Amino acid sequence: MQTALENPEIVSLAAGFVDQETLPVELVGEIVAGLAAEPFEARRSLQYGTTIGDHALRERLVARLEREDGRPAGSCKEVIPRTVVTTGSAQLIYLVGEALVDQGDIVLVESPTYFVFLGPMETRGARVIGIPVDEGGLRLDALEATLAGIEAEGQLDRVKLIYTIPEHSNPSGISLAADRRGPLVELARRWSRSHRIFILEDAAYRGLSFGASEPPSVWSHDREGDTVILARTFSKTFSPGIKLGYGIVPESLIDPILYTKGNHDFGSAHFNQRLVERALAGGGYDRHVARLNELYRRKSEVFLAALDDSLGGLDPGISWTRPQGGLFVWMTLPEGVDTGLDGPLFPRSVREGVLYVPGEFAFAPEPAPRPKNHIRLTFGVPREDELVEGTRRLAAALRFVLGK
Ligand SMILES: Cc1ncc(COP(=O)(O)O)c(C=O)c1O
Repeated sequence: MQTALENPEIVSLAAGFVDQETLPVELVGEIVAGLAAEPFEARRSLQYGTTIGDHALRERLVARLEREDGRPAGSCKEVIPRTVVTTGSAQLIYLVGEALVDQGDIVLVESPTYFVFLGPMETRGARVIGIPVDEGGLRLDALEATLAGIEAEGQLDRVKLIYTIPEHSNPSGISLAADRRGPLVELARRWSRSHRIFILEDAAYRGLSFGASEPPSVWSHDREGDTVILARTFSKTFSPGIKLGYGIVPESLIDPILYTKGNHDFGSAHFNQRLVERALAGGGYDRHVARLNELYRRKSEVFLAALDDSLGGLDPGISWTRPQGGLFVWMTLPEGVDTGLDGPLFPRSVREGVLYVPGEFAFAPEPAPRPKNHIRLTFGVPREDELVEGTRRLAAALRFVLGK
């Protein structure tokens, strides 16, 4: 990011930001003006809220979830008391770590996973183990085999959490297949012997889908409500500057999570909560997301076509994912190509004028040494012409490194 900021000629296919031009300036302006015209409401919004978050917003969030998951209106009302508004999903991830994970506990993640998740888990002293994914997301057979191995080591009672990003994952762009969602919950329940193994469903990219409708959430398969922690955010579909997210957590976790959140901030920014509630209520949010998906769909098509043009046929060891949503493409290079900061490709790419994220950051330290032959690319920020130019530069760097 520093390199990109210092050199505006560089095309950054690295920073996982949303497209600056899409941020909802007009809509936010209208909502703020509307609030200012209602002094009672405006003052209420500018006052502290509660630790768990604005009630009207939480009601609306749960009602929207019911619709998204195809459940009858009102059927999930009982989860409102365990729906907590957070300062982005990052805060929920942190709170879950605090509430659940102790030194030496085991957390299972997808390989590759959201690299920022690894930080709070490592701070808690967790052992983080990666589980392979395929084109349908987390491989349940591999998850089961890993759990069996941990059980054989006598460590099953240390497994606390399975972390998954089911929609257009950061970094892979891959989604968890609809027919793995129920079985994943069933698997976690089956392996919860001496204690509950929770699933953390990080649905950061839910809503950012270009074509096909999204399958019901993993959370919707947790009929008992005691296994899945759902993390959602408005950072990707609305504005990261508002930094608002929410979690629905099992009964057993709500008190510890609220206790720690209370100690941190006794509530996320109340004004931002009222703002988002109004954006949802007035329909402006849904119109915004529809426009966003159209724009990102076009950008993803331009990017994938540019990759096909520049890299198709360069080397049979090069492949990349074709996401149906989100912001990311995951590229695999021939084994032996080191994409890390100290390898040959990164400095060559900077010299050509393009940045990517080295894939090694996205792997847990176990079970194997982190593979180095992947890169994460994003089509979120660059304009269409920059996507084409950035791809051309990446191909030039790759040709150099591969000697082609
Ligand atoms: C998978 C995933 N989870 C969580 C986050 C955190 O987002 P926020 O804290 O802004 O909601 C991000 C942001 O990039 C992400 O990609």
